[in-house]
Amino acid sequence: MDRYLVFGHPVRHSKSPFIHTLFARQTQQELEYGLAEPAVDEFAHALRTFFDQGGKGCNVTVPFKEQAFTLVDCLSPRAKRAGAVNTIKLTDDGVLLGDNTDGAGLVADLKSDGVTLGDSRILLLGAGGAARGALAPLLAELPSELVIANRTHAKAQQLAAEFCDLGPVTAQTYEQLAGSFDLVINSTSASLQGALPPLAPALIHTDIAIYDMMYGASDTAFISWAKQHGARQTMDGLGMLVEQAAEAFTVWRGIRPGTKQVLRELKRNLGVI
Ligand code: ATR
Repeated sequence: MDRYLVFGHPVRHSKSPFIHTLFARQTQQELEYGLAEPAVDEFAHALRTFFDQGGKGCNVTVPFKEQAFTLVDCLSPRAKRAGAVNTIKLTDDGVLLGDNTDGAGLVADLKSDGVTLGDSRILLLGAGGAARGALAPLLAELPSELVIANRTHAKAQQLAAEFCDLGPVTAQTYEQLAGSFDLVINSTSASLQGALPPLAPALIHTDIAIYDMMYGASDTAFISWAKQHGARQTMDGLGMLVEQAAEAFTVWRGIRPGTKQVLRELKRNLGVI
C-alpha cells in the first residue's frame, strides 16, 4: 500500500492522519498515512530513510519546514517563494519534489467562506514563516492593497520588499495602520500564548472579515477580541488545515478530494460542534 506521513515535532496531536484517511476513503485511493516525530537533529536522516523504504510522499510541519526546503531535489515555484516546504512528493522519476500548499489552503478556505479577495484591502499581521507562505497566493488574487504589520517592523519591511514584484504590498507599523480594511489575517503566533497583536480596536468594524490562522476548541484570543469589537465574520485556521491537506493530496494522487464534509467531521472530532 502507498505510504505517506507527516513529519513534525511535536506531531502526536496532528490531525493530518485523520484528514488524509477521510480523503482516501472518499476518493477510493488505497493509501496509509502516519506520523513521524524525529528528534530535531534527526529529520534529514528520517526523511531519507522514509523514501528509501518506499514512502511516496509526506507532509512536513513545525519545526522542519525550512529544513525540508534545503533537502528536496527540486522546488515548486510557490515553495521557492514561501522559503519553506510542507509537502514532498516522490515523482515517477525518483525526484523529491518540494511544494508548499499552505498559502493555497488559506486562499481556498477564505473563498469557501465567501470572502472576496479581488480588489479588497487586506491587512496581514505577522512576518514569520506563516506570513511568507501566504503572500504570493494572496497577491495572486489581486487585492487593491496588502499591508503587512509586524511587532518587529524591519521584518515586515523585508517581506514587503521581497514580494513587491507580485502586487501592491507595503509594510506599516501597528501605530501607522489607518483606514478601512476588508480583511485582517492574523498569522502571528500570539494566540498560542493567549496574547494579542497590538491592533487598535478602531480598525475593527462590522463588515470586516477576521481570519486567525490558529485554531482551537474555542475561539482564539484574537477572534474573541475581534468579536468584542464588533466583527461579525470570524474564521479560524481549521479550514486552512483541511484545504492545505486537500491541495497536498491532489499533488500526490492527482485527484482533488472534497473538503466540506471532512471539515465537519474534523470539527466533530475536536468537539467544536
Ligand atoms: P510562524 O512560522 O508560525 O509564522 P514565526 O516565524 O516564529 O512563526 O513568526 C511568528 C510571528 O508572530 C512573528 O511575526 C512575530 O513577531 P516578531 O517578528 O516581532 O517576533 C509574531 N508574534 C509572536 N508573538 C507575538 C505577540 N505577542 N504580539 C505580536 N506579534 C507576535
